[in-house]
Amino acid sequence: MASTQAAAVFGLKDPSLVKFQGFIDGKWIDAKNGEKIVVTNPATREELGTVPDMGIAETKEAIDAAARAFPEWSKTTAKHRHDILMKFFALMQEHHDDLGRLITLENGKILPEAKGEITYSASFLEWYAGEAVRTYGAHIPSPIPNSRNVTIKQPVGVVSILTPWNFPSAMITRKMGAALAAGCTTVIKPPPETPYSALALAELGRRAGVPNGVINVVPTQKNVIEVGKEMCESKIVRKVTFTGSTPVAKLLYGMAASTLKKVSIEAGGNAPFIVFDDADIDEAVAAAILCKFRGTGQTCVCANRIYVQSAVYADFASRLSEKVAAFKVGNGLEEGTTHGPLIHDRAVEKVARHVDDAVARGAQVLVGGKSIPNTSFFIPTVLSDVPADAAINSEETFGPLAALTKFETEDEVVKLANNTDVGLAGYFFSRDVGRVWRVAERLEVGMVGANTGILSQASIPFGGVKESGIGREGGPHGIDEYLNTKLIVFGGLGL
Ligand code: SIN
Repeated sequence: MASTQAAAVFGLKDPSLVKFQGFIDGKWIDAKNGEKIVVTNPATREELGTVPDMGIAETKEAIDAAARAFPEWSKTTAKHRHDILMKFFALMQEHHDDLGRLITLENGKILPEAKGEITYSASFLEWYAGEAVRTYGAHIPSPIPNSRNVTIKQPVGVVSILTPWNFPSAMITRKMGAALAAGCTTVIKPPPETPYSALALAELGRRAGVPNGVINVVPTQKNVIEVGKEMCESKIVRKVTFTGSTPVAKLLYGMAASTLKKVSIEAGGNAPFIVFDDADIDEAVAAAILCKFRGTGQTCVCANRIYVQSAVYADFASRLSEKVAAFKVGNGLEEGTTHGPLIHDRAVEKVARHVDDAVARGAQVLVGGKSIPNTSFFIPTVLSDVPADAAINSEETFGPLAALTKFETEDEVVKLANNTDVGLAGYFFSRDVGRVWRVAERLEVGMVGANTGILSQASIPFGGVKESGIGREGGPHGIDEYLNTKLIVFGGLGL
């Protein structure tokens, strides 16, 4: 009864998608100690509801459930898993509006963007359904007489999935979709800020026919270190996949090393966005808006440092500023809002620190520059003349702050762009074909946008170099992260 009343707060067409319990072995359950996480709407700071704050005991139960489910699930045909994933995909389409609304309520991103995330999120299920039936092995000619070499692909086993709040749905399907397609079973730790999207996915998976134990969801907050440790160190788990900050990625990588697990990590970025003087400035401005301010600046692939060549600097800065000044921040459910809040106070404080630091070092505020007191909103900001030693050049802001710096030459800007420990995405605008090829090759990143500010699709290999991560998600490579290649040598064939 309490759950039905609380579910009404979310205003969904199907209130049964709102779950206030964790999901283990096909059952909705509370934390053993009765502890709860309070989830709030960042736009209003009002409580949305609670979910259980689970600990190590529930995590072990979830891992055991995933291990019990593995033999049966891994034996199903790839076609069977394809069909279940396509049903799951169809259910996400059917509940598209509700799932989008859930994201806006718990993450704050505006409703059209939240619905866009659901389209993106569902596309991973569709993509991996297609990949499930294409996990080909190989025949490798043998130098030994009477012998043949063959490889087959087998699912790695139980997978621990740890996801961030900035894409409450898509970062789960990007990992879980691949795991399920490969024949693996999963334990998912969603972030405490946005657990409802994760739990709604578990419910839709159940409705799609995913068997008990194949998807488990363990929300946690207070015990996050112990839960993360168990998910990485358990001998039962064979793979860990994480999206989040680089410091946490390093911790988890270290823990997973104790049992030499397979690991994929998508960690922080510090994306350069370069505008050369031969660029189409209208296109560059439009792309910078999308790339910098998507999710109110809270994506790992957001432009963090915007470098503009001196001849077009003033024009670019003024056109960008005009557009940013016209943004309307507010509650993402309200018509006309262009940008939502940041996720919490810590996020607001970080943007404010980056603005203050840059200004103290000589940057100029062209637009914004302040938070709205006692809220999680930061006014979208453009800074110009940001000096090289500003904190924003070495730290990811993760907020609505466009930091502009002038440059003169291609060599200079490539050096500036690569002067960071991370390398997830990089973008640049130029109409010179030679320069496009040169700069694309020289940027030390996993993904390059040449004359575009948006890369994300299920069909691309998403991932970084340097301290931005390990492995690739999506695209033709994504499913391989959840498979082992096994060699079978056939000898004595009497050929
Ligand atoms: C991320 O911010 O981690 C993911 C962004 C994306 O998939 O576009």
